[in-house]
Amino acid sequence: MTERDESTVRDWLRGIEVFARPLPEFVTERAPAEPSDLFLEWLTDAVAAGVPDPHAMTLSTVDEEGDPDARVLILKNVDTAGFQFAAHADSPKGVQLAGSPWAALTFYWARTGGDLHAVARA
Ligand SMILES: Cc1cc2nc3c(=O)[nH]c(=O)nc-3n(C[C@H](O)[C@H](O)[C@H](O)COP(=O)(O)O)c2cc1C
Repeated sequence: MTERDESTVRDWLRGIEVFARPLPEFVTERAPAEPSDLFLEWLTDAVAAGVPDPHAMTLSTVDEEGDPDARVLILKNVDTAGFQFAAHADSPKGVQLAGSPWAALTFYWARTGGDLHAVARA
């Protein structure tokens, strides 16, 4: 890519609107004590706002070399014990979690301005 192309792409990216709607206020004192209850409140808002695939999330893992990997999965359940998803144990994500049972989950709900990032042990 030439320098001119890079500058054009940068300008184009900077011109794309982000956070077009007002971001919701987050008041720590009003948040439920149980994190999964807060998550369900946000997910409920996202469903009500018509966010497409609101239960889709990015699961980030690391492989045996320590290199990061990530993919989109559908959330199957959430409770006080954590988040549940369906995956084959012999898939790359299954093998990576067996070797290094720490993972990050990221949700982004553009219409409600919500962004949740959770790190947990599998
Ligand atoms: C919207 C969406 C939902 C998906 N849901 C799942 C899922 O619930 N389980 C799953 O194993 N793969 C799901 N996939 C496919 C994964 O993103 C991924 O391509 C696949 O699981 C292979 O991942 P891996 O090679 O890192 O193990 C979904 C993909 C998309 C785009």
